[in-house]
Amino acid sequence: MDTRHPRVMPEKAATGGLAARKLIGTAALFCCIALLHIQASAQAILEGERFNPVTASQGMVVTSHTLATQVALDVLKDGGNAMDAAVTAGFALAVTQPRSGNIGGGGFMLFSPGNGEPVEAIDYREKAPRRATETMFQDEQGNVVQNRSRFTHKAAGVPGTVAGFALALERHGTLSLKQALAPAIRLASEGFIVPERFTEGLEQARDRLTRWPATLDTFYKEDGSAWQPGERFKQPDLARTLKRIADHGIKDFYQGETAKLIVDEMQRNDGLITLEDLASYQPAIRQPIHGTYRGYEVYSMSPPSSGGTHIVQILNILEGYPMAELGHNSAASIHRMAETMKLAYADRATYLGDTDFVEVPLNGLTSKEYAASLREKIDLETARPSSDIQAGDPAGFESPETTHFSIVDRWGNAVSNTYTINFSYGSGITVAGAGFLLNNEMDDFSAKPGVPNAYGLIGGEANKIEPEKRMLSSMSPTIVRRDGRNYLVTGSPGGSRIITTTLQVLLNVIDHGMNIQSAVSVPRIHHQWLPDEIRIEQGISADTISLLETMGHDVVQKSSMGAIQSILIEDNGKLTGGADPRRSTSSAMGF
Ligand code: GLY
Repeated sequence: MDTRHPRVMPEKAATGGLAARKLIGTAALFCCIALLHIQASAQAILEGERFNPVTASQGMVVTSHTLATQVALDVLKDGGNAMDAAVTAGFALAVTQPRSGNIGGGGFMLFSPGNGEPVEAIDYREKAPRRATETMFQDEQGNVVQNRSRFTHKAAGVPGTVAGFALALERHGTLSLKQALAPAIRLASEGFIVPERFTEGLEQARDRLTRWPATLDTFYKEDGSAWQPGERFKQPDLARTLKRIADHGIKDFYQGETAKLIVDEMQRNDGLITLEDLASYQPAIRQPIHGTYRGYEVYSMSPPSSGGTHIVQILNILEGYPMAELGHNSAASIHRMAETMKLAYADRATYLGDTDFVEVPLNGLTSKEYAASLREKIDLETARPSSDIQAGDPAGFESPETTHFSIVDRWGNAVSNTYTINFSYGSGITVAGAGFLLNNEMDDFSAKPGVPNAYGLIGGEANKIEPEKRMLSSMSPTIVRRDGRNYLVTGSPGGSRIITTTLQVLLNVIDHGMNIQSAVSVPRIHHQWLPDEIRIEQGISADTISLLETMGHDVVQKSSMGAIQSILIEDNGKLTGGADPRRSTSSAMGF
């Protein structure tokens, strides 16, 4: 069955979609969408849930952009596996969703084979250039100069996406890099129809993007206005860059013409990345973080991401509470979650960093014993002020705009991928002549111990800047296995909120028995130790907020958090996909 999230744009992917698009009139599309709504409502009445997932049996793709979902689904239908589809989707997102899809950034991927073999983590996070220094974002008085780590050429880490995708494909795919790049090249050269969200993003970021001539030329029209919904947007420079990578392999990006364009961009603007930085960049194969929650096996990203460590740490603490009985988003549940999150984020600030450079007590942080000792510190009636909380003492020493996609193929293989250029549109700087945006991931380092980064996250010594080190991340591509088989594939953007967003989808499925679409759609909460507040989305009742305030919590409603793209595999092999309605271009498609 070919299905898609009701919110999808009508535009079909460039692969084989052009003729079809001409034939399908607007009226017919509205009818189809209306029919989907009617079917969904009918199912909802039968099944008793307000949200219904997309269902399929052979393969499922869930991404934050319909065109990327479609090209990846085409790969699965043509007999490709989950990794072939993942790399194809990743490159397509670099074209269709330039605010976070990228070749100028980095990320993390989990691959979980359908035959039960070990889960593998691929780390293609950016690295600090060799000339980076611990105090490079401080002035002479030692004060942090925030714009320097966010909106200058020095903000960019050495990009890892191209090398990471190539390595992932080589290890687990069947397509060549050229084949995986083909849809992206087509989307860049032939263009695609701009959805509303694309225009909104460029309007919102106009001031910081249009400062850079190459960004203005690449992403805005000749008269300086943003591309409007319904218009066709082409990226000839990016198409040429992707074509060079297809023709010459990753060597082009790290040593060839594209590398030269990146270095020229740096040299013209006082940036740090050199040809040596690019030539020496290598992605890494990591052991994923592993934990258990009520009998489920949880795999998530290890350092330099903090995500997996703290998801497992929080789950370990919450396992001691009857979360199902306490109820979804009740004051009692939210209190336990918030108190637990505070403890985890306090540990994050102290202990987490790139394990190639610092020792991180991973075993201690993710142990059930440590969780039990932290649980004892939680008062079930009263909020503990964050100022009273410091990092704990785990046993012996031995990581807002990102995008996530989840894919499962007919063999049960699963890919969970999160990648980013940090802010929406990263640094805002486009590599002139190459057509892609550079990340501003250097802001994820601790510019100075105790000074928060853009997400309000405090970092310490473990996450200080060092040459060739990877900056700490919160990205948490996650795969849950049940009885040795892939069960839940999930992950989200959202900066510091990635960890708690991903956590809540796990709780919603495992504790609250929600289907995957409900699990991703219902309101979320977040606490990150500092600032000392429970951040909530719209939809938490006034009564609940009042109870939480009585317990001593500061509760603040802000904009929505995350965009979690998830797949659940039922025992009978049925696939259910949940695209996050918080992004209008999110889509789940299966067959
Ligand atoms: N740039 C956000 C993160 O990696 O967590």
